[in-house]
Amino acid sequence: MLLTFIMNTNELRTKYLKYFETKRHEIIASASLLPENDPTTLFTGSGMQPMVPYLLGESHPKGTRIVDSQKCFRAQDIDEVGDNRHTTFFEMLGNWSLGDYFKKEQIEWMAGFIFDELGLDPKRVYITCFRGNEMLGIPKDSEAAELWQAEYAKRGLTDTKIIDFAERNGMQGGNIFYYDESKNWWSRSGKPANMPEGEPGGPDTEMFWDFAPEQGAQHLHGDIDNETWGDVCHVNCDCGRFMEIGNNVFMEYQKTADGFAKLPQQNVDFGGGLERIMAAKINNPDVFMIDIFDEIRESLQKLSDKTYGENEADTYAFRVVMDHLRAAVHLISDEAFPSNKDQGYFTRRLIRRAVRFASNLGIEENFIGAVAESVIKAYEGAYPALRDKADTIIKAMEEEEKKFRKALARGEKEYKKVENDILAALDAGGAKQTKITKIGTKINVANIDYQALAKIAFDLFQTHGLPVEVFSDFITKLGYDYDEMELLAAFDEHVKGHQELSRKGAEQKFKGGLADHSDMSVKYHTATHLLHIALRKVLGEHVQQKGSNITPKRLRFDFSHPDKMTDEEIDEVTRLVNGAIAHNYSVSFEEIPVDDAYKQGVIGFFPDKYDDVVKVYTIGDPAYPGNANPDEPTFSREICGGPHVEHTGHMGTFIITKEEACSAGVRRIKAVLK
Ligand code: SER
Repeated sequence: MLLTFIMNTNELRTKYLKYFETKRHEIIASASLLPENDPTTLFTGSGMQPMVPYLLGESHPKGTRIVDSQKCFRAQDIDEVGDNRHTTFFEMLGNWSLGDYFKKEQIEWMAGFIFDELGLDPKRVYITCFRGNEMLGIPKDSEAAELWQAEYAKRGLTDTKIIDFAERNGMQGGNIFYYDESKNWWSRSGKPANMPEGEPGGPDTEMFWDFAPEQGAQHLHGDIDNETWGDVCHVNCDCGRFMEIGNNVFMEYQKTADGFAKLPQQNVDFGGGLERIMAAKINNPDVFMIDIFDEIRESLQKLSDKTYGENEADTYAFRVVMDHLRAAVHLISDEAFPSNKDQGYFTRRLIRRAVRFASNLGIEENFIGAVAESVIKAYEGAYPALRDKADTIIKAMEEEEKKFRKALARGEKEYKKVENDILAALDAGGAKQTKITKIGTKINVANIDYQALAKIAFDLFQTHGLPVEVFSDFITKLGYDYDEMELLAAFDEHVKGHQELSRKGAEQKFKGGLADHSDMSVKYHTATHLLHIALRKVLGEHVQQKGSNITPKRLRFDFSHPDKMTDEEIDEVTRLVNGAIAHNYSVSFEEIPVDDAYKQGVIGFFPDKYDDVVKVYTIGDPAYPGNANPDEPTFSREICGGPHVEHTGHMGTFIITKEEACSAGVRRIKAVLK
């Protein structure tokens, strides 16, 4: 018997990395799901996010050709999970030209990868390109379209056409469609009109897999959600026939006050969903059927005694549990432990939703440990840290499950306490016709105050960890016929508000790096400034702060430096910091325009985050009126929000407890004051 070799997801990831390695790319590891130095967002949600500084021109320590598979988490998709393609966690394959190669190489290599390496049938792959926009002064990307046409021709498809999106009769494999900027333009902020000044972006060319070519060119989709494309199915249609498997962005523009200018370098940013490419490879539109989910699915089938795919409601629940627990394992591995704030809030929500949906499958007992183990098994080859941290991850997840089961047991009591508020929200608008005690009583849904309901649900989640779905169950039990989707949407708005607050909180913490304003934290904050200068004196001026985190017990400081520090360097830095403490410098601040600060040689490495006028802290400032010692030299001047000690004496003895790699080209120091 002939055994055909079927590539699995882990092999697909390796194949991609190795393929681009043969094109002289450096393979880099995935960055954390929790962005290290980007306070503007809670999670890494795309492959390009950690690459932004390099796309803007900063030099990457690994050179100008990079390839990776980036772990991503999209919290905003949490309620979308349950269909055959949405997931909160996914991996994005990425290859990057940082001012190196451009369109010709990218399209040739990408065609080589998807057609020759993966063996995807070119007749079932469609391409889209940017149709140009005269008003923006950006031309049609006919170069990309023609390059693709040539790639098809090389593989025997000599009659492919390049067609405008308005032409709906072109559903013939290999055809290339032009779309406008709503589809074929990429920037972090979306369309050109939404881009702030300075933002980089560019036209892109996307690749789509056709799951159902037998439906033919005139296939009418069942889900008309975008009238622009009319009622005939099209590659960008959402009906599920086509799935985007990758996006090649040609990032060569930067938004200016009155249009676009060329960036100093032409970049390529490719992002392709690993799971989606695998789904195309096995020609199954259900991403939950790819092999990386096999163990997870099987362990749930065993626990529930149900079969995935047998009926719609169960399949939905299977998908939610599979997605959420997979995401939670990766989040905890990246240190987002379940909690009520910041990123941990989402880990908690994922685990609790998973428990609730598992109960729809009849799983009522603790089960999470077994599923978490199967997630770790599926991913440990690519992410060995998962195995190293397995005990911690499983323990955190099991504890969360137990806590939630306790909360659920208390739940009924908690709902009773706020039942009157719930009833008032349900009856807002005075729907007096409603009798609310009998199951199945209908009321006019227009009278329900969903905002108020969502607020109650959110408070119950915050204080007792009761997920919104459990809240929905309670309302149903009260006998209300209401629109659950509307409640979920309103709930998500509250979460977004919370996320915004967390983001601001994270930003605040990031700026000062302070978790609190206790005496010890303030001392550590001043010690951080001393350390920053000492590092620049010992290692060189290339040292720049990349991140800071302070608790009353220690400081943690991330900075740019390519090599491990030697013992001598660590000793010298320690000596300088302790010297500055012993000197008992005075510390003062002033507020000056940011440009003046830079002119005066003040350091500050987060220019994007600064207002026009900034606070500058000076350690050892003869000019400041409150200072006693006019003869002291200045040790450090840095843009910073404070707070700091008034004098550096009495801070204790500074000791570096750890020096380690943090990410590419970034080192991390942990230090204490004893
Ligand atoms: N930046 C593009 C995306 O996120 C390609 O990586 O889709």
